[in-house]
Amino acid sequence: MRVLLLGGGGREHALAWKINESSRLTKLYVAPGNAGTALIAENVDLKVTDFEALAAFVESKAIDMLVVGPEDPLVEGVRDYFEADGRFEKLMIVGPGKAGAILEGSKDFAKEFMMRHHIPTARYTTVTRENMEEGVRFLKELKPPYVLKADGLAAGKGVLILNELDEAVKELNLMLDGKFGKAGNQVVIEEFLKGIELSVFALTDGKTYKILGSAKDYKRVGEGDTGLNTGGMGAVSPVPFADEEFNRKVEERIVRPTIEGLQADGVDYKGFVFFGLMNVGGDPYVIEYNVRMGDPETEVVMPRLKTDILTLFEEMAHGQLEKAAFELDDRFCTTVVLVSQGYPGSYEKGKVISGLDSVEGSIVFHAGTRMDGDKVLTSGGRVMAVSSFGKTMKEALALSYQNVGKIHFDGMNFRKDIGFDL
Ligand code: AMP
Ligand code: GLY
Repeated sequence: MRVLLLGGGGREHALAWKINESSRLTKLYVAPGNAGTALIAENVDLKVTDFEALAAFVESKAIDMLVVGPEDPLVEGVRDYFEADGRFEKLMIVGPGKAGAILEGSKDFAKEFMMRHHIPTARYTTVTRENMEEGVRFLKELKPPYVLKADGLAAGKGVLILNELDEAVKELNLMLDGKFGKAGNQVVIEEFLKGIELSVFALTDGKTYKILGSAKDYKRVGEGDTGLNTGGMGAVSPVPFADEEFNRKVEERIVRPTIEGLQADGVDYKGFVFFGLMNVGGDPYVIEYNVRMGDPETEVVMPRLKTDILTLFEEMAHGQLEKAAFELDDRFCTTVVLVSQGYPGSYEKGKVISGLDSVEGSIVFHAGTRMDGDKVLTSGGRVMAVSSFGKTMKEALALSYQNVGKIHFDGMNFRKDIGFDL
């Protein structure tokens, strides 16, 4: 099988690593990829939202399968583009079309979907400039803190959590005035859910699904979950508190109704679903849907997948996921993300990374890296993720940290307390 994978972060290196293990693979291209994917695949310099260029590449390289890492091409309709054209009838695509991707592309759509299908989520109302007064009335009914969400994609920055009512009203105005661009033309106002966050990942062919496990990521830059939000400083899978009973609730109340809801709505969804959840006193609620894998969660979820991923993708593409073999490693997997000094604010690039050869027993997934001759240089804020297995979460973390200690670059920063609250 000849595969083109879109994206260039740690998530994509983890997907590429898993795809590369498949006996079905004959050639793997990653666009644009990073220094890690360059070691196991061929990087190609294509923009993930330049569908015309992607189509020309798929055609010229006789690609059999397109695997979409990030959300942007999905929300912009990469599947629809390929399906509109008879030339690509045989191309298998991992990732939903626009009609499914809107679950991530519009928070208002996602909330309506959950209401329609009785999926537990926080109470909400959606406002625009026209009915802003209703929003203020709703805010007054709620207890603090107040949750405001820009409806559209805002690169993970469109959610505000505010402690004071007057601050919330002020921010609501600013959002409707374009603080987050047109993503904030509509704002979802939500009740605050108090609990512990976690994610659950599934692969679906639109009819059945395979649950790839639970994971928890650590978004704040500082220890003890303090400081600015980042793209993720570490992750663990599975989540120790997600026991059999909790997982059963997630499957019965959330995963199954979501897949059945999509089917009832006539959405032919083929790809990953990322359920962002809050555990409120033992009951799961949906905070958000994403239509792709998480980063850095993929770096702990993919290693635990024992099944050949290309076979799984193929069964998915043909609507036969139900009969697909599926097995997860029951060990824990953890990852610690190494970031550049200053991240998530401004940071320098081009620092030489050393010590990678002495890593033992962990898998190093590259994120913001690039090759310069035989040197690996930093080229982003999140630089790499060091993933390890263990019989317990603690054992896995100890191995990740042991190997982190062998890697060095100028200004290297990482959280020393991944898993601290579990
Ligand atoms: P989202 O982009 O929807 O995932 O929101 C970003 C973050 O805001 C989430 O990861 C949560 O930490 C927090 N958040 C979002 N919605 C709520 C809510 N209703 N209650 C509590 N926290 C929330
Ligand atoms: N780690 C959260 C995300 O990928 O959205």
